[in-house]
Amino acid sequence: MRRTWLIAPLIGTILLGGLYSSAVTAQDGGQGAPGLGDPYYPGLGNGGYDALHYTIDLSVDLQTNTIRGTTTIEAQATQALTSFNLDFAGLEISQITVDDTPANYSRDGFELTVTPAIPLEIGETFTTIVSYSGVPTPYADPAVGATPLGWLRLANTIFVVSEPGGAMSWFPSNNHPSDKATYTFKITVPKPLVVAATGVPVDEIDNGDTRTFVSEMTDPMASYLASVSVGDFVRVDETGPDGLLIRNYFPTSHATALTETFSPTSEMIAYFSSIFGPYPFDVYGAVIVNIPFGVALENQTLSLFAADVSGEVTIAHELSHQWFGDSVSPATWQDIWLNEGFATYSEALWIEHNQGQAAALDYLDELYKTIIGNAMGAPATPAADNLFDGQVYLRGGWTLHALRLTVGDDVFFEILRTYYDRFQYANATTADFIAVAEEVSSQSLDEFFQAWLYDATVPEKP
Ligand code: TRP
Ligand code: ZN
Repeated sequence: MRRTWLIAPLIGTILLGGLYSSAVTAQDGGQGAPGLGDPYYPGLGNGGYDALHYTIDLSVDLQTNTIRGTTTIEAQATQALTSFNLDFAGLEISQITVDDTPANYSRDGFELTVTPAIPLEIGETFTTIVSYSGVPTPYADPAVGATPLGWLRLANTIFVVSEPGGAMSWFPSNNHPSDKATYTFKITVPKPLVVAATGVPVDEIDNGDTRTFVSEMTDPMASYLASVSVGDFVRVDETGPDGLLIRNYFPTSHATALTETFSPTSEMIAYFSSIFGPYPFDVYGAVIVNIPFGVALENQTLSLFAADVSGEVTIAHELSHQWFGDSVSPATWQDIWLNEGFATYSEALWIEHNQGQAAALDYLDELYKTIIGNAMGAPATPAADNLFDGQVYLRGGWTLHALRLTVGDDVFFEILRTYYDRFQYANATTADFIAVAEEVSSQSLDEFFQAWLYDATVPEKP
């Protein structure tokens, strides 16, 4: 689903196709590109089609960490295709069908090339079913150092933390945030284990010894934000603003304390909705993994927290990503400060709302000292092997505070709202944000953004 990009190229190609149909079929009736040319991850994602819906239907064995099942991908060809690629790493494939007919396939690293029995025409929607099984291999990503990504099992809990590339460790996809899609999750586990999955929980099917937890993500989602967890969880529901369901999954042994820890969530949703725009999705909540591995991740509708990082500021950070990161996603991984800078600044906004302006300014002063102390580099050009560095978070966050000091509160919040409204459920580039800031403020901000986002030297506070 490429809300902003798909329509125009498709129409252009159809028009051309009308004029030169035989030539276009002969030239383009070929292979979908194996990557989308992301500046940091050229191999992630694939060309030639637009993923529309994934149904991930897996049986999970917690003891052996084995998964078995199918992922069904509904997609639309954006060119004529004799073959197309999916991103999928490890695991054993037993069959692939396209439109119910067995397809040929080959694998090279995480590139899975599927050759349907009958070539696909431009504009055609088609259904690919990949049947597979095995123990997922954690994905080693250069951007996050030693942290293994994707489907993980630690201390008798399974959980998924994929950003940026780990989704391909557990389901085949067009693994790039520029191709969002809707999702159905059907995850089967032995009783009494509980599944926490992204999306609205719609069904829990009793199969005797096992249960199938079904959830639906009806809003577009990037593959890196799809997540399931399996463990000894208890589901604790709350009602958020305007009747929003907040469903949290806590380790049973810590449910009482964690219910208290996460109790500010509803007020945070109300506050962020009032300054950014309505909460984007049909449900929210947190899943807490009782392992001290020090990470939290903003999976769509279901942020994940390691037990040691579930403090209030982190809760606000991950929640704010539902607007900035999940609803508005980066167009490329180079634009990651649009996620992390915004979420870091949202921490300060929550502190300002909850503890007052002085506390927020103290917080921001500390961040600025850290930026200066470490001579943090430019947020918009992080090192490829350190995508989630402090320069992206802290200096990215401070870029927004500096913008606020430059244009004033009213204009600043109007910029945030306009940017969110324009790019919700889609993708944005750094240039898109700069354009909105200039449009709403009626100022040329080239020098400002050059200094804060691109220059190596840390700018003075405005
Ligand atoms: N986006 C996460 C945050 O909110 C950080 C992060 C990036 C991460 N990649 C990850 C966390 C992989 C866990 C696993 O700051
Ligand atoms: Zn973040």
